[in-house]
Amino acid sequence: MLSFPDSFRFGTATAATQIEGGCTTSDWYAFAQQPGRIKGGGRPDVACDGWRRWRDDLAIQKSLGLGAYRMSIEWARIEPRPNEIDQAALDEYRRMLGAMRDAGIEPMVTLHHFTLPKWLADRGGLLAEGFHTRLARFARVAAGALGDVCRFWITINEPNVLAAQAYLLGAWPPARQSPTEALRAHHRMLAAHVAAYRALKDVLGDDAQVGVAHHLRLAQPARPESSADRMMAHVFARVFNDSFALATCTGRMYGPLDALVTGPEGFRVAEARGTQDFFGINYYSRDVVRFSPGHAAELFAERSVPPGVEVSDLGWEVYPEGLGMIVRAWAQRSGVPVYITENGIADATDSRRGPFLVRHLAQLARAIADGVDVRGYFHWSLLDNFEWAEGYGPRFGLVEVDYATQDRRIRDSGHLYAKIARERVLL
Ligand code: GAL
Repeated sequence: MLSFPDSFRFGTATAATQIEGGCTTSDWYAFAQQPGRIKGGGRPDVACDGWRRWRDDLAIQKSLGLGAYRMSIEWARIEPRPNEIDQAALDEYRRMLGAMRDAGIEPMVTLHHFTLPKWLADRGGLLAEGFHTRLARFARVAAGALGDVCRFWITINEPNVLAAQAYLLGAWPPARQSPTEALRAHHRMLAAHVAAYRALKDVLGDDAQVGVAHHLRLAQPARPESSADRMMAHVFARVFNDSFALATCTGRMYGPLDALVTGPEGFRVAEARGTQDFFGINYYSRDVVRFSPGHAAELFAERSVPPGVEVSDLGWEVYPEGLGMIVRAWAQRSGVPVYITENGIADATDSRRGPFLVRHLAQLARAIADGVDVRGYFHWSLLDNFEWAEGYGPRFGLVEVDYATQDRRIRDSGHLYAKIARERVLL
């Protein structure tokens, strides 16, 4: 029987743009209006109507007995125009977080979860002059207004995914396809993370726990006997998967190349060393990698899913062992407590989510039994929601959302998760 200590936190995760609706000042609001950008023409205009229905969604979490919730605050809503802070929006977030705490649910707030105020995107977004200062200033505003109702903070969600989707693959705003811009964006986000980390600690002191939600995957060679595949898997893992995360632990991002990159105001990668109080891991799947001359932009790595394996509705392989391996490796590398800040599956029929949950949690329970310091798990997601360029098709929720009526229905996997959280054992 595998068990979890009493202090282990079971929670769920969401992000503002994916659930809230009602924000017209973000880059994603504008992007989704461009034809062909989002599958099925989906737009985040209403999403789950969470901005108005958060009390209902909090009541659901409470009824499930969950003790933690990761959410993001929408920068575009709080600072809709440069230097203009919407106090009413901050007050609403304050009510939300306060109510959460009153319900015995520990909040974790993400400052930057993929989206930007439109005005900032128009000035160059992540590549804009002074982006890091802007994020740090936003961090100060958020900490000042919400610091007494929130102890856990994430500066940036999945910088590697954002750099790749927005600047390399052209799938997210600003839809660029430039390897050099992708690298610059990645580096700029590191500088911005460091600036935001310092700002939060400066305002809130050492009691605040600040980290990054690192998207980490495994990269393994498709043909282990092929040295080209092995090398590609290594390079892909080193550059895409690990570099940002490594920088926050060791102050080294791309190895010897670090010496060549200077950031805003002379920012050096080495400054990122030790800029997290906990290590956040978003884990979904692994990549089987094969050398392919046709995939230059992706570092010559063609990623695929092995034949016959179990996959999600998005075709992602279900590979729980990867979570165990990643947790163990990064707990050691980072030297700080680990939280699984996201893990979940697109599964409209809810036939795979229950076993998915149990198998991933089992990896954590085993790691904890072996002495690895894993403190919590946030399932992605509480609700079905707006899945970026994939639109509303993928269903990630423990709770099903009927977008026509906004009715919520707890899925069987939601009840199973509640039982695990209550009993703290996996049978
Ligand atoms: C993560 C992201 C979330 C959510 C999830 C499911 O990469 O942080 O916002 O979309 O994937 O795909």
